Amino acid sequence: MNTSLLIKNGVVVNADKKRRADVYIDEGRIKEIKKSITRPAGRTIDASGCFLFPGGIDPHVHMELPVRGGHSSDTFSTGSRAALFGGTTTIIDFANQERGGTLSHALGEWMSRANGNSFCDFAFHVSITDYNDRTRREIRECVERHGVSSFKIFTAYEALRIGDADILAIMEDVAKLHAIVLAHAENGDMIERVTAKHRSHGKHEVKYHPEAHPVEAEIEATTRLVDMALHTGCALYVVHITSGEALRRLAGARKAHARRKRLPSVFAETCPQYLLLDRALYEVPGFEGAKYVCSPPLRGAADRAALWRGIEDGRIDTLATDHCPFTMKQKEWGLGDYARIPNGVPGVEHRMQLLFSEGVAKKRIKPERFVELTSTAAARVFGLYPKKGAIMPGSDGDIVIFDPEAVDRISARSHHMNCDYSVYEDLRVRGRCRTVILRGTVAVDGGALELPEGFGRYIPRVILV
Ligand code: URP
Ligand code: ZN
Ligand code: ZN
Repeated sequence: MNTSLLIKNGVVVNADKKRRADVYIDEGRIKEIKKSITRPAGRTIDASGCFLFPGGIDPHVHMELPVRGGHSSDTFSTGSRAALFGGTTTIIDFANQERGGTLSHALGEWMSRANGNSFCDFAFHVSITDYNDRTRREIRECVERHGVSSFKIFTAYEALRIGDADILAIMEDVAKLHAIVLAHAENGDMIERVTAKHRSHGKHEVKYHPEAHPVEAEIEATTRLVDMALHTGCALYVVHITSGEALRRLAGARKAHARRKRLPSVFAETCPQYLLLDRALYEVPGFEGAKYVCSPPLRGAADRAALWRGIEDGRIDTLATDHCPFTMKQKEWGLGDYARIPNGVPGVEHRMQLLFSEGVAKKRIKPERFVELTSTAAARVFGLYPKKGAIMPGSDGDIVIFDPEAVDRISARSHHMNCDYSVYEDLRVRGRCRTVILRGTVAVDGGALELPEGFGRYIPRVILV
């Protein structure tokens, strides 16, 4: 059987340039990119009028995340399927160490959830919540045996956060291995103090959630982390940046790292919800605001404008989603106490469409920068490049045929995520993923899924020193 695929007449977009070309894929890999390819193929697709983007990489998702009382509502099966509909062909989830548990156990747990179930390709960061001698040995094993090149730490959340001494030790270990530390940067003490005050004053409604996660908590933790990264010589990637000031401090630290030539850098991630949604949504009467409860919380117009500047000028490296959906019924665990509302919003399906619509179609960024933010930068930072993150000979045949003129309205009625609402309900978006290709196989075409469950593979990552 001829499994080759020929895509004709599209505009191939990489992070550095774009050009009109045909693309020939065989045995899962891109074999040829040329102005005109005429050789026969098992399947030929005409991409006239469309961009060809490298398959999206979402480096921050939480499928089936265990939380008090249950799991985030997308499984690897439903969430990865939704990812493919939205042009994301690779997701990186987090294998979370339990306190008292091991990293290998965490990795095994997450691997068994994803393997055989994921529609798209996947990898794992490993989250460290309990640092000790064994953990330390396991960090090396994760890198050398399991293809893990990134380790997450939290400065907030009681069950997850670790202290500065452990963070410094982890950074030293990780730096020696030329891997990278990811961080959820919020000062946990500030959050817990305000939450306790709210409780004692009977302030339980959703509208108090953002007040309990003040911007100073993010700025303080970000500043502390970048200084610790500079001190230990460790590469640092701060997830879900929400504020202009945190971004400013990250950008300053990047310059300081660059001045100390041999040191690796500091990277910033933000998510569509922080670019597009306003904190006023927490004020909607009733429990509606629970839909938007995530940490850090949504901010105001000035922060959104600052984040957009970072998207435009290159200070933000990646656009992830922090996809962590909970149904309305699950959100209701926090009825009467906002601090018990499970944190997170659905988003994996609409990342590329939202950035195209709000970024490229509104002329804030060029298609090349769109590719950098949605695919190439994540591939480079997390050791997937050039297998993923580019359309070039030798790379995996992960391609999105994107129609820039199509218009959609986002709605929970039509999305594929296992969540009974959308935080972008009724938003009009320009541009649509017409065909999504994973390793040379058509995954989604014209709104129909063509892949079997479990097609997704674990992608071990390499460290590029
Ligand atoms: O609210 C959020 N962001 N939930 C997911 C977990 C995390 O902090 O990334
Ligand atoms: Zn987080
Ligand atoms: Zn997260």
